[in-house]
Formats: sequence, structure tokens, C-alpha cells
Amino acid sequence: MSLDGFIAGPGHTMDWGGGRPLAGFVAPDDLAEIAAATGSMLIGRRTWDVGSRMEAEEPGSVDYPFSGPFFLLTHRPLEPPDPDVTILSGDIGDAVATALDAAGGKSLEILGADVASQCLERGLVDEILVYVLPVLLGAGIPFSSPGLARVDLEPVSSARSGDATILRFRVRK
Ligand SMILES: NC(=O)c1ccc[n+]([C@@H]2O[C@H](COP(=O)([O-])OP(=O)(O)OC[C@H]3O[C@@H](n4cnc5c(N)ncnc54)[C@H](OP(=O)(O)O)[C@@H]3O)[C@@H](O)[C@H]2O)c1
Repeated sequence: MSLDGFIAGPGHTMDWGGGRPLAGFVAPDDLAEIAAATGSMLIGRRTWDVGSRMEAEEPGSVDYPFSGPFFLLTHRPLEPPDPDVTILSGDIGDAVATALDAAGGKSLEILGADVASQCLERGLVDEILVYVLPVLLGAGIPFSSPGLARVDLEPVSSARSGDATILRFRVRK
């Protein structure tokens, strides 16, 4: 996230690292540690499509060190289908339960502002983990969906990691 709260630029652009890959702002050991604590991922379709576009334009540009099960929330099939991805649709609570079940006791990581906001609204999020990058974007896709009701958080940790700051909060329920 940029310091002013955007997770993508206008039009879902993800080239806002000033020529650097976004993951390159974070210390590799910290990324590896967080990925190792992750058992599965639940991803929104727009996040998936942006990641696929980036990978097609520049292979290797989506370089998160995670290799567990992926669950994609979407109303539309993937073209072509991807045997490594499970498509889910409908109730967000059922989707989280399915993806969490596959995490083998580790964390379920949720990606996408719309999907994460749905989970926050339903009280399904335990923690928010943010990598703050040292830039002000001025415009773009905000961290949470407009209209999300107030969510109170408890600070857990904040730490410098490479050129980023990692913030961790527990969601008060
Ligand atoms: N900076 C970062 O680290 C970071 C991380 C994650 C994402 N992002 C950026 O955030 C943007 C995407 O976030 P977003 O909030 O726009 O969208 P999103 O949460 O990634 O995806 C939303 C889409 O997922 C599908 N969906 C959501 N809930 C569903 C449900 N219950 N059942 C079935 N389908 C469901 C719908 O797609 P369909 O109806 O079309 O199927 C919906 O339009 C992208 O620009 C991405 O690059 C940035």
C-alpha cells in the first residue's frame, strides 16, 4: 500500500514502484517468513486478472514466494482453466471456510480490496498485514472498498523491512 492508502494506481495499474518491482521494497527474509506462515490464499478476480496480465507482460514480475493452494473468488470461469486453482463463488463465509480448511492450520491470506472488505464486514478477518511503501500516489484503488463500515483495530507490530514498513493489526471483534 502507498502511504496515502492505495494498493494499485488508477485503472488497476501495478507499475507504481518507480521502476522497481513492489516485492523488491520488502526484505526477502520477511517475505519468505510471512509466506511460510501462509497455508492458502483466497484471491479476488480483479487481483487475479491484474496478476495474470503482469505475468504475461513480464514473466516473473509476480514473485511472491508462496506455493500452496489458491482459491479464486469469481462468477466467471478461467480461460483457459487452471488445474492448480479452485474457483469459488457465492457466500463469502463458505469461501473462507473452504480456503481455511485447506490451509492445514496455517494462515489464510486474503488478497483484493473487495474480497477483503467483504470478509471484514462479516467479521471473518483476524489480522491485517500491510506493507507500506514510501510513496504518495494521490489516486488509485483504495485499501478497502468505499462504504465499508468502521472497523476497530489493535496494533500488534510495526517494523522497517528493506524500504517498506510492515504493519500488523488485530481486528477487534
Ligand atoms: N498492492 C498489493 O499488494 C495488492 C494486493 C492485492 C490486490 N491489489 C490490487 O487491488 C486491485 C483488485 O482489488 P479489487 O478490490 O478491485 O477486486 P478484488 O477483490 O481482487 O476482486 C473483486 C472481484 O472478485 C469477484 N468476487 C468477489 N466476491 C465474490 C463472491 N462472493 N463470489 C464470486 N465472485 C466474487 C468478482 O469478480 P467477477 O464477478 O468479475 O468474477 C469481483 O468483482 C487490483 O488492482 C490489484 O492489483 C494490490
